[in-house]
Amino acid sequence: MTTLFVNIRELIQVEDFPKKMVSGAEMKTLPTIKNAYLVIKDSFILDFGRMEDLQPNKFDKTINLKNKTVLPTWCDSHTHIVYANNREQEFVDRINGLSYEEIANNGGGILNSAKQLQHTTEQELYEQSAKRVEEIIKLGTGAVEIKSGYGLTKDAELKMLRVIKKLNANYPITIKSTFLAAHAIPLEFKNNKKEYLDIVIKDILPSVAHEKLANYIDVFCELGYFSIEDTKRILKAGKQYGLEPKIHVNQFNAFGGVQAGVEFNALSVDHLEEMRDEDIESLKNSKTMPVALPSCSYFLSIPYTPARKMIDAGLPLALATDYNPGSTPSGNMNFVISTACIKMKMNPEEAINAATINGAYAMGIENTHGSICKGKKANLIITKNIPSYAFIPYSFGNHQIEKVYLEGKEMIF
Ligand code: NIG
Ligand code: FE
Repeated sequence: MTTLFVNIRELIQVEDFPKKMVSGAEMKTLPTIKNAYLVIKDSFILDFGRMEDLQPNKFDKTINLKNKTVLPTWCDSHTHIVYANNREQEFVDRINGLSYEEIANNGGGILNSAKQLQHTTEQELYEQSAKRVEEIIKLGTGAVEIKSGYGLTKDAELKMLRVIKKLNANYPITIKSTFLAAHAIPLEFKNNKKEYLDIVIKDILPSVAHEKLANYIDVFCELGYFSIEDTKRILKAGKQYGLEPKIHVNQFNAFGGVQAGVEFNALSVDHLEEMRDEDIESLKNSKTMPVALPSCSYFLSIPYTPARKMIDAGLPLALATDYNPGSTPSGNMNFVISTACIKMKMNPEEAINAATINGAYAMGIENTHGSICKGKKANLIITKNIPSYAFIPYSFGNHQIEKVYLEGKEMIF
């Protein structure tokens, strides 16, 4: 089945040959074709070009886009959208003066989510999470990474990862799964972190690998959570099972997490609100993608990742939501892009590159996602009538999406 889209005002992020990612000054270049056509065949992109070059041909269906803009769907490379219930009371507590840290120390935070998740059935967890998946598809996300890490017991971690697997099977969105092996220390192991890590490494990790439930491994490397030594231990164990690292580092404190990620060839290091010069330096000439999560900075009122400094130093950068019940209860990539432009001084071109091709790289799917390229998945955002792509970040708090196509099919819920 072939579908021809004609009269596209601007076709964004086109490429003749798939690139792996864009970095440094290249991030300001966003290749587009004005007054374009696009052909998709089944679930793939078959052809595209300028309207004036369109050859008369037979297509099963022709859609006149009447001057709408077309982009590849967003690639959200960092989320925790499989979780049970919400934590709006902690949000209110923060408004009233408690810090994120104080809430966590009082048994709130990750431990609160873990308790709720442990008491939620797999079916109920699936249903809650499926709603979030549908919500992010409507907001233009076509590929998403989802982490475990709110289980903290073998049963609950496996439950989360099975829900992720089921979501991947039931929805046309591409899902990559991460075993967040060390997210918080359960209360019963408060004074015995080593014993907890032994269980994670010797019992939970082998089961995750045996059931083939994860593509990546993650650690919350942070003061009060897991040290550099703990992080390296987990990453080493994960590697033995073929799980590549994608890790939480430098959210509140910079103490070598980035370097640990680079040393273990992490696919990405994420958060990076606190970045020292040596952290930026260590990412140069590495294969590790730095990932910024501006909605988290916004929601927690913590610093933003210094994107300008990093891109100006020649680094690539990806943008993701971090959708989770504690620090970022939002999966809106449109808001992420606006916030990156407004608060991190990224140009619209840089932000769109960061949310498409670089996000795809940070999930290991850059050969199939993240751009309009022949042979890649027909994952498309059709916008409302907008004057230019800069209007997308400009209209913050809103979105400009009229339709979403995943694998060549229009998404209707
Ligand atoms: O990425 N930083 C660690 N984990 C999550 C939030 C955890 C929570 O508060 O539930 C994050 O921000
Ligand atoms: Fe996170």
